Amino acid sequence: MAEILGLGLSHFGGFMFSDEEMSGRAKARLEDGSLPPSLDHPSKWPEGMREEWGNDEGASFASRHREQYFNGLDRVRKALDDFRPDAVIVFGDDQYECFREDLVPPYCVFVADEFLSKPYLRARGLGGDTPNVWNDPFDMILKTPGAGDIARFLLNALLENDFEPSYSYKLPHQDYLGHAFTNTLMFLDHRRSGWPYPVIPFAINAYGSALIRAKGGLVNKATQGAMQRNPDPPAPSPRRCFDLGRTIGKILSESPWRLALVATASFSHGFLTEKNFFLYPDMDSDRLRHGELAAGDYEKWRGLSIPTLEDAGQHELVNWLPMIGAMHELGQKPEYCELMESYLMNSNKCVAVIPPR
Ligand SMILES: [Fe+2]
Repeated sequence: MAEILGLGLSHFGGFMFSDEEMSGRAKARLEDGSLPPSLDHPSKWPEGMREEWGNDEGASFASRHREQYFNGLDRVRKALDDFRPDAVIVFGDDQYECFREDLVPPYCVFVADEFLSKPYLRARGLGGDTPNVWNDPFDMILKTPGAGDIARFLLNALLENDFEPSYSYKLPHQDYLGHAFTNTLMFLDHRRSGWPYPVIPFAINAYGSALIRAKGGLVNKATQGAMQRNPDPPAPSPRRCFDLGRTIGKILSESPWRLALVATASFSHGFLTEKNFFLYPDMDSDRLRHGELAAGDYEKWRGLSIPTLEDAGQHELVNWLPMIGAMHELGQKPEYCELMESYLMNSNKCVAVIPPR
């Protein structure tokens, strides 16, 4: 009988690199002179952020933050291994990687029997040829099995149910999965026990109004100005993503497979939070969202508007909506749901396990 497991995690790339690098975004903002006088020195930052900065520019906190996150990941991986899925569907954003000026679908299923990732050869303000926590060679290529047949089944069934996802048999613009999927695969196997599960990457245009104008929301002195003018068309609404998830939950619960749905995204991102001068995330809003999620109060998330998410720098929360919608449809509640807060490390992270009933 079909069963569906819901999981949630962050794909914050900073966890892959050294403690010293994790606060790199904040350091870059200090150095490029783009912060206002009220925030242009760590002594002026909010109290929690100053504590994280400490006397070593955040390195000690980075170690604790990673440990907390990796411990949460252990719970996710155990749930996954105990469940033994036939495939894992990962909902993640494309941050000006596969989708650029020439075509931006609201959401897109990648259909293939194998995917390649280059975890360390990306430009996201971190990484490149700096050491990583696994001591992997920086040009390492990860091969992950896909689940083309299940992806095609899902596409057919969604169209029969009046949803029209885009699909792609080939990754556009690059031969490698984007950061959301790549980092998720790295984190789900962070203990290096091996990764046997076929995946279906399900890309969502979470960056919406910031996608083209700020090249996926990468904030530096040049793009900060762009972030404040000429928004691109927005992301698909939380309502639509939730209803998409409800339909996915219904379709898959009537399928022959055991499937895991993985939502991958941090909550509020500092570099997307204009009211905090693109420096630190919206703590209050993330605590609210976490409380709703942990209580299984999923419809609160369905009722969020895109302007509300964007005001809080929570653009990527739409990655969580399809999984949450499916859990709502199937009546499944979180067994584990932890918010891991950080002012300094760009975002608050949430890790969740929502088992079958
Ligand atoms: Fe992302």
